[in-house]
Amino acid sequence: MTAPRQTLDWTDRLLELDVGPVAHGGHCVARSEGRVVFVRHALPGERVRAVVTEDGGGSFCRADAVAVLTASPDRVEPACPWAGPGGCGGCDWQHASPAAQRQLKAAVVAEQLARLAGIEREVTVEELPGGPLGWRTRMRMAVTDDGRPGLRAHRSHEVLPVGDCPIAAPGALLPVLERSWTPTAEVEIVRDAAGEVHAVELFEGERHPELGDGTAHERAAGRAWELPAEAFWQVHPHAADAVVDAVLEGVGDLEPGACAWDLYGGAGLIAAPLAERVGAVGTVGTVGSDGCTGSQGRVVLVESDPAATAAAGECLADLPAVQVVRGRVEKVLHGLPGPPAVIVADPPRKGLGRRLAGELARQGAARIVLVACDPAALARDVAALAEHGYALAGLRAFDAFPMTHHVECVATLLAT
Ligand SMILES: C[S@@+](CC[C@H](N)C(=O)[O-])C[C@H]1O[C@@H](n2cnc3c(N)ncnc32)[C@H](O)[C@@H]1O
Repeated sequence: MTAPRQTLDWTDRLLELDVGPVAHGGHCVARSEGRVVFVRHALPGERVRAVVTEDGGGSFCRADAVAVLTASPDRVEPACPWAGPGGCGGCDWQHASPAAQRQLKAAVVAEQLARLAGIEREVTVEELPGGPLGWRTRMRMAVTDDGRPGLRAHRSHEVLPVGDCPIAAPGALLPVLERSWTPTAEVEIVRDAAGEVHAVELFEGERHPELGDGTAHERAAGRAWELPAEAFWQVHPHAADAVVDAVLEGVGDLEPGACAWDLYGGAGLIAAPLAERVGAVGTVGTVGSDGCTGSQGRVVLVESDPAATAAAGECLADLPAVQVVRGRVEKVLHGLPGPPAVIVADPPRKGLGRRLAGELARQGAARIVLVACDPAALARDVAALAEHGYALAGLRAFDAFPMTHHVECVATLLAT
């Protein structure tokens, strides 16, 4: 059906909506006069009064539910006074019970797989320990015109001086809130596992360390990690272990002496336990230098961020089977030692993309394990790998970002 031509701008219009299913992005789908309305602060099955916040110009617009006429049984009072219409854009589901949030995310992952990869599958989103609040160990704050740190309103540049944030890890924001910052700057905050807060002010393209010594101390995969605070690390304190367990489950048993690739490897969180799987005891000299042909196994970690590769070099110094390659995956792929028995890929939010997925498939690995924080990118990558003979065999999903619409997935694909 062709969408009706839109002539009038609906912005600020008040609508009464019957709210339909959840959609990717932290909103639900409703319809009004033939147009799709993406409505925030509502839940499936509710009847709400909503104000249009943005007219998409075509067949859709965006709206905020401002009054709930028939409430879902899953609705709860938000834990944060800044959640809701016109409020902070950091959380999407403060008004849903934690169990309902996981069901909403499971529905989104299932819907993306069905729509983008043609795969019908039941999805369960697993809870991580610690509850829905006090989990965020990494956060970026904006700064108001008068130097106060705050968080941005949804799809807006407006900075709300929220004070302490209930999803932030305990103590993460206090030293940041106690002082003033350069107006309009941004502040990158890390609270590490030792409880130390590191903060860097970002202003006019420059980074100015302001709090902490810049070295984050973390614990995961049975090891202690020391890494530059700006290097990637999972935001939820229990996510790193959950991801590692799911990846190892996906990797399965590896032949001693096998070669594994850990693409987008960061500081080596996944490479470390993989090294133990491939029989990584021995010295560097026993490993073949131009391929995975030595009697010892090898894990090839590829990462573009020099801070992360430096940390990997130090944190994994006791694991000589790990070879750290600094570079962009798409550039260095063809020169890597191989062939890999298994490829683990944990790309940034946009995923692998069709072309790189095809190139990975051509390496002939028996398994590809994908870690993804965007279900749409995951579904597109799964679809691209399926074109090259890889079938989705396992999927774990974790609520690693409670109160937000984000979800962390680990998918295992087997060569057919
Ligand atoms: C989602 S993080 C995963 C890191 C690691 N696997 C972990 O769990 O800690 C993605 C990583 O990919 C790196 N990265 C981004 N683009 C890249 C590229 N084109 N090639 C290699 N690494 C890249 C980032 O610096 C980041 O460390």
